[in-house]
This record gives sequence, C-alpha cells and structure tokens, in this order.
Amino acid sequence: MKRKPFIAGNWKMHKTIAEAVSLVTSIIEKLPNPEQVEVGVAPPFTALSAVAARIGNSALKLVAQNVFWEKEGAYTGEISPLMLKDVGCEYVIVGHSERRQIFRETDEMINKKIKAVLSFGLKPILCVGETLEQRQKGYTFEIVKSQLLKGLEGLSSEHVLKTTIAYEPVWAIGTGKTASPSQAQEVHHFLRGILGKKWDKEVAGSIRILYGGSVKPDNVKSLMQQPDIDGGLVGGASLKAESFLQVCSFMEV
Ligand code: 13P
Repeated sequence: MKRKPFIAGNWKMHKTIAEAVSLVTSIIEKLPNPEQVEVGVAPPFTALSAVAARIGNSALKLVAQNVFWEKEGAYTGEISPLMLKDVGCEYVIVGHSERRQIFRETDEMINKKIKAVLSFGLKPILCVGETLEQRQKGYTFEIVKSQLLKGLEGLSSEHVLKTTIAYEPVWAIGTGKTASPSQAQEVHHFLRGILGKKWDKEVAGSIRILYGGSVKPDNVKSLMQQPDIDGGLVGGASLKAESFLQVCSFMEV
C-alpha cells in the first residue's frame, strides 16, 4: 500500500497570534495538492484557535505540540485532548525530545498521552530518537526500539494504524546537522520491522514514519527518496512560508 507523504511544521515556542495567522495564510495560499501530500502545522497553544479559524475548510491540518492525558481537572497549566479536539486539532505531537529532556517526560507518561489522544479520536505523532552520546556508544537501535514499544504499549492494531511515528535524532535537531538519508533510512526500516513483529504486516506497511532534524529545502528530496521515509517533522524551516512550502513541494525540487 502506498503511504501518502506527510509534512508537519512544528513551530515550537514561536509566533504571536498575529504572526501565526500571517504565516498560515501564506501557507494556505500555496498549499500543494492534498492528493499528493498531507501538510500540517503545529502552532503554540495560544495561536491554535486563530489558526484553526484561518484554516477553515482548507486541506491544511492542525497539529498540537503537546497534551495532558486527563480530560479535565485540577492540572494547572495543562491542556486536555478534549480541548484540542474542541479547537480543531487532528494530530498531536507526543514525546518530542524537548519534552523528554527539558520537561522530564517518561515513556510511561508518553504512553498515557497517546492512549488519551486516541480515545478522543485524535491522531498521535510519537517522536523517538537517540542522543549523540547514545549514537556514539552504539545504542541507537536499542533506544528507539524501547521508546517505540513503550510509547505504543497496550495499543490495538486499529489504534496503532492511527498513529504516526517521527524519528528525530536529538543530535540533528536545530543543529543544521541532518542524518544522512541512509542513516535515517536504516532506523526507519528498523522501526517498521518492529511494528511488523509486534503488530502485523498491515500496520507495518501502512504506518507513516516521518524524519525530523534539520529538514530543509535542500535536503528534503534525498530524504524523501528513501523507501521508509514518509515525510518530515520540520522545525526551523517551518517558521517561514517560503522555506516550509519548498519543503512541502519536495517532489518538484
Ligand atoms: P529542526 O528542523 O529545527 O531541526 O527541528 C526538528 C524538530 O524538532 C521538529 O519537531
């Protein structure tokens, strides 16, 4: 089965509401054919509502950067999956390495978040990836396998099929240092193999595995040519319409 490419822009902690609306307006104007590539943006929470209104009926997808696992309650500062559904999100990034490292999110917390996201009919994007030290010590495969299996623990095939995986080597994030296409392909292929063993062939063949880490207009094509790379989770290059749209038009680059 052919997997439709998916490019999502993770804006991280950038953009006021006015800046977010301006950026999304420029993106929508030149959005590539949605039959060929699915495109999403993940603004900060404060801009979700305004960006959702601007997206309207366009094919652009709204993505949240994080979530808490409870529906409501005394959790000061947190946002629930119900609220993300309410504002118009379709996808939620879970377990980004910045959340794992800076905010001490564990695999158990990430698993709870993924289950909560799915129970509200939202689609999780589970991030996995090794640090430079882990790569240098030869632990890459062990680390990503553990993050993948713990993050998806207890999920049915039906739920795993609604999940997207993002392989984001920590050493490639915001550093300008991209994993080479073959380095990324090796890990993507490995992750797909694990999904096939733990769930089934349909899951392994259908699930999209995105690459993230210094994806730019000049390296996206060679990454996307790899058989197991199904898209990108783009940080820095998603903050300007021009570079993001160039990344999204990787087929024409
Ligand atoms: P950069 O594209 O800025 O390296 O960020 C990648 C990332 O963390 C996307 O989630």
